[in-house]
Amino acid sequence: MLSAILSIIEGLPEAALALDREQKICGFNNRAAHIFDLLRVGDPVSLTIRQPEFLDAIGAVRSGEPSVTVLFERNWPVTRQLEVTLVQIAHDELAHDVHGRIDPGQPDIFVTIRDTAEQETLARMRMNFIANASHELRTPLASLLGFVETLQGAARDDEAAREKFLAIMAGQARRMTRLIDDLLSLSRLEMSEHVPLDVQLEINQLVEPIAEMMRPIADGDGARIKVERLKGGAYVRGEKDELVQVFQNLIQNAVRYGRQGGQVQVRVQRRKRKDHAGHWISISVKDDGPGIAAKHLPHLTERFYRVSKVSSREKGGTGLGLAIVKHVINRHRGELVIKSRVGKGSTFTVNLPESSPQNVTG
Ligand SMILES: Nc1ncnc2c1ncn2[C@@H]1O[C@H](COP(=O)(O)OP(=O)(O)OP(=O)(O)O)[C@@H](O)[C@H]1O
Ligand SMILES: [Mg+2]
Repeated sequence: MLSAILSIIEGLPEAALALDREQKICGFNNRAAHIFDLLRVGDPVSLTIRQPEFLDAIGAVRSGEPSVTVLFERNWPVTRQLEVTLVQIAHDELAHDVHGRIDPGQPDIFVTIRDTAEQETLARMRMNFIANASHELRTPLASLLGFVETLQGAARDDEAAREKFLAIMAGQARRMTRLIDDLLSLSRLEMSEHVPLDVQLEINQLVEPIAEMMRPIADGDGARIKVERLKGGAYVRGEKDELVQVFQNLIQNAVRYGRQGGQVQVRVQRRKRKDHAGHWISISVKDDGPGIAAKHLPHLTERFYRVSKVSSREKGGTGLGLAIVKHVINRHRGELVIKSRVGKGSTFTVNLPESSPQNVTG
């Protein structure tokens, strides 16, 4: 019984703990330890959770109420608004000792704890995201509607204007399509965050065709792309399409925001990990453009963050590229390192855990 309850607690996505008949703690999960950092199995719960509301709730459950929810605030180490639910564990399922008595060490009350402030922050983030996304869609839509009205009215018989406006309208519609594709990518990534990666990929072979594909775009912007391969192969476990998206965005950014007539260097290397957990396969994309001021660096991977909204929008950006990059890298248990100096250029480095080159399947 105890072990069953403990494994339920362990597996719960919420903070949870169990108390025995003497109100001592029989078990708790990491989330509970995160909120109440002094929890210890065997201690009376009142040593850590002293709020009278909570102690009254224990009394109420013990005197027969099947479940009680109380709200209280905890101010240390940080302020939290807690919603705590106590549930009586059915007695007839409890283990009895040889004399038929209920073993006092068995779990008697099950407690779950929700931090409502955390939920509010999440809700606020979600609202911000929706507001941003709607704004990004509304801008091209408003411009499309404006052109439609002009074409129906003043420019009805002006062939030259019509051609010009239709081209702009097509561009705006493409922008909205790209924005929606990126939003869908992000939500797919969020859903697949815990799906294991089991395909082995060779990174030189993955990066070169991307650079090749970008060359016509780069030529238009007058930039040259150079790829430096890692000899002997660069093997990682991963999801090919997702990694393609990462390198596409990094190379595209380097071309887009780099120097006209400049050079973009893609380098695949193998590096010792600082945590001594083997090696990274390290892919860096370096440009010699205007660089990015330090104050922007920590925000670049936020959704919709752009150093210059006008310049990025003119260049067809949605500000979601690096947010997607960051998600993909997290899912691959890697890291993204951004180094940039104003006037000197930027280097975006992706570190992915190396896998041994046997059983190559991808
Ligand atoms: N190599 C770079 N040099 C200078 N600024 C950069 C570079 N890469 C990214 N940035 C800045 O970071 C911002 C965010 O990049 P991100 O890739 O997330 O979005 P985007 O390129 O604007 O749009 P998207 O990638 O969705 O088309 C860019 O708008 C740009 O201001
Ligand atoms: Mg981009």
